Amino acid sequence: MNMERDVQPTQPTRTERVQIFDTTLRDGEQSPGATLNSDEKTQIAEQLARLGVDVVEAGFPASSPDDFEAVRHISQTVGQAERQLPSGYNAPPAIAAMARANRRDIEICWEAIKGAQAPYLHIVLPTSDIHMKFKLGKTRDQVIDAAHRSVTQARALCDLVEFSPEDATRSDPGFLVDVLETAVTAGATTLNIPDTVGYAMPEEFGALIKRLRAHFSDRPDVLISVHCHNDLGVATANTLAGIVNGARRVEVTVNGIGERAGNACLEETVMALHTRRAMFHFETNIDRREIGRTSKLVSRLTGIPVQPNKAIVGSNAFSHESGIHQDGILKNRQTYEIMNAAELGLGKTQLVLGKHSGRSALRARLEGMGYSLDDRDLDDAFRAFKALADQHKTITEGHLHKICSTLSFAPREAAQ
Ligand code: KIV
Ligand code: ZN
Repeated sequence: MNMERDVQPTQPTRTERVQIFDTTLRDGEQSPGATLNSDEKTQIAEQLARLGVDVVEAGFPASSPDDFEAVRHISQTVGQAERQLPSGYNAPPAIAAMARANRRDIEICWEAIKGAQAPYLHIVLPTSDIHMKFKLGKTRDQVIDAAHRSVTQARALCDLVEFSPEDATRSDPGFLVDVLETAVTAGATTLNIPDTVGYAMPEEFGALIKRLRAHFSDRPDVLISVHCHNDLGVATANTLAGIVNGARRVEVTVNGIGERAGNACLEETVMALHTRRAMFHFETNIDRREIGRTSKLVSRLTGIPVQPNKAIVGSNAFSHESGIHQDGILKNRQTYEIMNAAELGLGKTQLVLGKHSGRSALRARLEGMGYSLDDRDLDDAFRAFKALADQHKTITEGHLHKICSTLSFAPREAAQ
């Protein structure tokens, strides 16, 4: 079956670029326990620049003097450094920081980012009834007024101003449009639509983005961006639905870290667009060879481990234990893999030996260790291996050497 043929094209066949706005250092850092110091934030920002993200959201400067310093430093260093990317987009990334829709936050934010070549001021203002009532204590009119004042103030300082109506997906759709129109009139250059509590499903989120893109069709210069949370496990799916329906910038994090269940995941989004490019027709500026290194650095510095079965970067993502799969992989890797770990800086495909493994994988491993066994010897080794595998979760090379020495098989080097 040709899978590409089965999918109804929703996009023109011309490949377009989607910008990657990385918020690992802002939303990601808001994950419980993930606090980073200024030096750690700078290390991650440098790696994000090497990875090829278009925008690094470095923090929330009004939240603490440390965060202000980190954002200021990243703006003056990473935000000024040319880079060498395979895509040829070598300008430094824009450096973004978040501010609430008030005068003081915006002033502090601007002071922190103004040293970057492309400073990017991100204003957030809640628009759902529940947030406006309980968090802000403001009426709809007061929120419209705050949107107008804050974006006007920000645009007087900064050329790139993003406006995010927080909890957009639970906001009254008519009111949401009113607030977004106000932000655009005041000069917002990007409208970012957050699914703040991870409530939306891909079809409805895509439909919302489509309606908004159509509503602002007379302003193609205003970019639509999406920012999805993973409370129901569909953040990346929602992000892709946003792209298909008109978003051209996506807010994502490395390893999908972020508030509660996290944000849409950078590497999942990038690899979905790349692996299924014949369907999506989008490309990014990301140097995919840097994905493994970036994931490991973020995990090490935030102290948040990557779950083994995490898509793309989990330790099991390119590992195979069952005999049927191992046999397929040994004959042709693409039988069970749709991406190549080595091209993502993630090492090699692993054949893990355990109780589900078969003879082909055992033979391949023993040959790799220097044992060349005929079929009868392999039968004996396989029986001993299966007996041991019933007692251990995985079988190591140490176990295999022991089996071979018990059966008096010697590796080639020792036999010479
Ligand atoms: O989830 C959210 O609503 C946010 C905004 C600040 C964009 O993180
Ligand atoms: Zn968020």
